[in-house]
Amino acid sequence: MMKILTVVGARPQFIKAVAISHAISELYPDTLCENILHTGQHYDDSMSAQFFHELGIPQPRYNLGVGSGNHGAQTAAMLKGIEEVLLSERYDGLMVYGDTNSTIAGALAAAKLHVPVFHVEAGLRSYNRAMPEEVNRVLTDHASDLLFAPTLTAERNLIAEGLDRNTVVFSGDVMLDNVRRYAPAATYDADGRDYGILATVHRDFNTDNPERLRSIIAALGETASALGVNILFPAHPRTRKKLAELSVGPLSERIVMVEPLSYLQTLGALKRVRLVLTDSGGLQKEAFFSGKPCVVLRPETEWVEIVECGAATLADPASDGIAAAAERMWRVAPPEPTQFGDGTAARKIVEKIIAFR
Ligand code: UD1
Repeated sequence: MMKILTVVGARPQFIKAVAISHAISELYPDTLCENILHTGQHYDDSMSAQFFHELGIPQPRYNLGVGSGNHGAQTAAMLKGIEEVLLSERYDGLMVYGDTNSTIAGALAAAKLHVPVFHVEAGLRSYNRAMPEEVNRVLTDHASDLLFAPTLTAERNLIAEGLDRNTVVFSGDVMLDNVRRYAPAATYDADGRDYGILATVHRDFNTDNPERLRSIIAALGETASALGVNILFPAHPRTRKKLAELSVGPLSERIVMVEPLSYLQTLGALKRVRLVLTDSGGLQKEAFFSGKPCVVLRPETEWVEIVECGAATLADPASDGIAAAAERMWRVAPPEPTQFGDGTAARKIVEKIIAFR
C-alpha cells in the first residue's frame, strides 16, 4: 500500500483536497492510503472546520495549530512541524495544493528529506513577484516531482521554465470536478433577499492598502445603485478586521456583509446571482464553471483563459474602472468552460501518483 501525506492549511485547499480524497476512497482504497496534515494556517470555524464537516473530508491526522503571523514565522513553524511528521513516519509522497504558505512549507520540508512532492495546481503564474502567492507557487513547482497543471497555459509555463517535461501532467482542474459534483444540489437562501452580485475581497494588497480597500467598497456601492441590485458580500476575517481598523464605510444598504459562506452555500449563491466581483482565484473559476461573468479585482490574473474568452475582465482597484467594468460584464453570457479539463482531474492525478511509485 502506497502512503501519502496531504498538507492543507487554507480554505481553498480543503475544497481541492476533497476531490482527491473522494477519488482515492472511491477508486483506489486498497492501493493508496492518505493521511491529512492541517497546518492550522486557517483556524476560524468559518474558514476551516465547516468545510471538513460539510464535505466529509477525513479528519486531519495531524494539526500543527500554527495560526496567523508574519510570513517568515508562519512558514517556519509549518516547516518545522511537517519535518517532524516526515521524520517520525515513512511516507511515499507528499501532496500540496495551490500557492499558500502551507504549500511551500510542505514542498520544502519533503524535498529536503527526499520525499517525492506532488503539486496540484502547478504552473500558475501572475508574473507579479510582489504577491506572496507567486513566490510560493514558483518555488513549490521547482521543488516538485510531479506537477499537475490544471490548464494547457499552466503546462506551457512549467516547460518554459525548464522543468522536466516527464514530470508535468495536464490533469485538468479538480475544482471543475467539484463544481460538477456539488453544484446541482447546492442552495443559498439565508435571508430571502434577492442578490444580483456576489463579491469577495481578501488579498493582502487589496485589504491592507486603505486606498484600494476604499476604492473597492465605493465601487461596490456605485455598482449596486447603478444596476439596482443587492450585493452579497461574505467577508474574510482579515477583510472585516481591516474595514473596522481603517474605518471604511458605512457600507451602502445594498451591500450585505455576511460571515464567510460554506462551500455549498457559495455554489448555491453563484446560482442566484448574475455577476461576480472578486480578487479570489478560486471564485473566478467557480463563477466561470457556473456560467457567470466576473470582474477580477486585480491588475492581473493567473487564470488568463477566463479573461481571453471574455467571461471575465480585470479591474485594478488602484484605478476607478470597477463600476464601469461591472456594468459592462452584467450583460455578458460566458461560453462553456473547455480549458480546465473534463471534470475527471482527481482520477487522473491519483492514477499518476500510483504509477509514480
Ligand atoms: C491565504 C493564502 C491565499 C489564499 C487565502 C484563502 C498565503 C500567502 N495566502 O491568504 O493564497 O487565497 O489564504 O483564504 O498563504 N485570519 C483569521 N482567521 C482565519 C484565517 C485568517 O482571522 O481563520 C486572519 C488573520 O488575521 C491573518 C489574516 O487573516 O493574519 C490573513 O491570513 P493568512 O493565512 O495569512 O492569509 P490569507 O489572507 O487567508
